[in-house]
Amino acid sequence: MDEVKIVEKQYNEVPYMSKSFYYTLPEKQKTVLQLLGFETPELKNARILEIGCSFGGNIIPFAIAHPNAEIIGIDLAEVQVNEGNNIIKFLGLDNIKLIHKNIMDFDESYGKFDYIICHGVFSWVIEEVQNKILEIIKTQLSDNGSAVISYNTYPGWKNVDILRDIMQFRIESLNKNGNQIESYEKVRYGKGAIEFLEKFSFLSEYTKAMVADIKEKDAYYILHEYFEASNTPLYLYDFNKKLLKYDLFHVVDSDISRSFPIFSDPQVEISVENECAGDHIVREQYYDYLLNRQFRVSIVTHLKNKEKINLTKMVKIDSLNKLNIRGYFQKNEEGKYIREGNVLVDELNEIIENLNVAFPNTISIESLAKKLNTDENFYQRIMQLIYSKTIEFFSEKIEIYKPKKLKLSEKYRKYVEYALSAENPMISFSNFSGLVTNVSKTELSIMTLFNGERSDKEIENLIKTNIENGNLSITRTEENSDTRTDEEIIRDFIKNVREFLEINMMYEK
Ligand SMILES: C[S@@+](CC[C@H](N)C(=O)[O-])C[C@H]1O[C@@H](n2cnc3c(N)ncnc32)[C@H](O)[C@@H]1O
Repeated sequence: MDEVKIVEKQYNEVPYMSKSFYYTLPEKQKTVLQLLGFETPELKNARILEIGCSFGGNIIPFAIAHPNAEIIGIDLAEVQVNEGNNIIKFLGLDNIKLIHKNIMDFDESYGKFDYIICHGVFSWVIEEVQNKILEIIKTQLSDNGSAVISYNTYPGWKNVDILRDIMQFRIESLNKNGNQIESYEKVRYGKGAIEFLEKFSFLSEYTKAMVADIKEKDAYYILHEYFEASNTPLYLYDFNKKLLKYDLFHVVDSDISRSFPIFSDPQVEISVENECAGDHIVREQYYDYLLNRQFRVSIVTHLKNKEKINLTKMVKIDSLNKLNIRGYFQKNEEGKYIREGNVLVDELNEIIENLNVAFPNTISIESLAKKLNTDENFYQRIMQLIYSKTIEFFSEKIEIYKPKKLKLSEKYRKYVEYALSAENPMISFSNFSGLVTNVSKTELSIMTLFNGERSDKEIENLIKTNIENGNLSITRTEENSDTRTDEEIIRDFIKNVREFLEINMMYEK
């Protein structure tokens, strides 16, 4: 059987649960490139292609949020494509379709695309398929379009390679001795092999953390990541050499903090800058060595666009002014603003207070600059907040209104129903920008009560009646520490669900 047939068989037999990946989606690509001064096509009527789309879980949230965009996904595994199309039909989406197709057979008849996504495929396929992916991007990406390709990268994967090798070695040697370890059984034996290493070998702390991480992963993920016939991580530098052969280049990582990391010692950046002589690929490769990077999501475009893009950390004020930012911050006991346990410096307070007032709406950086008495450090601070992922940034303004009787929009109602009813959901539940959201079944069912005909108080009464009739019950997760009354618990649920729907714009406007 040739390698492509083996991959097809593997994914048909063990489908890959399809999540959305925020950093691959067109909104992220557009916003990052806008920051670097490069305008990509508008999102609202863009044409999108995903190569290796699995069940479509990555592009479905984009399709829901952009009814006039046209989205196509292709994948080799018919089982995944058929089920994905069933989900799309259930959701009532007519702007997205998945096509059962080998990358090798893709041709120009599908037309040009403004954004192309290829996530979790490139370093897992043979070179011939990699070349075809690059050929598709070269010929089918519109002139000012953008693509993302993700891949396992070195040096981080050098450590993981050892773990992959021992897992495969164990299966191979057991099978050689007359066993028949196949499919999910490989995961069980593979985990056993790395646990053995963890216990008795001189592994570094880093590799031990990797073992712990692998052990937590779902079986389907481990099977594909560690037992796939090909898994060839690449250095960013070598990846870019491949791109250049197709007149393409790596612009930045879609997670911009990977391209412009913050080091506590400023000397690091100075040394790297001296060494790379303005070559951004060399600079980023040094950062990957320093930070032991293991995964990359490269934004890629045509080489001829290079001169239009600012590839330095020093973002132009014009480009920054166009962006819209959002964030919400709480204070600690000492009255200092915090983010994920870290105390933020007081110089950021003025910006933070304005963001807090606007939340969940965005503020444009331009209007914030006009409002605040900005000194020369204002833009520097904004950049720091962006690079450290302390605030969200968007290409378009987000304006939320709060109707008294909120109605879950039709497409999102079906999306919620799918998440609620599917025994084994094949796609993740994600927000409009592709962030996977962690919502419980209780919260999902409360969402369906927001039908535009009930106020929050009426929803509360409905839930209470259902509890009184014995159709619903309140389960306390922290029996002893939760001192709220049942009524308070219901109200908190409703408040949180409403906020969730508003922040994620899942309601009818
Ligand atoms: C690791 S999964 C990633 C799926 C999805 N993009 C994600 O990140 O969750 C790789 C996907 O690529 C598909 N694939 C691999 N080789 C392919 C080929 N030659 N043509 C089309 N799809 C292919 C597989 O069927 C599988 O769905």
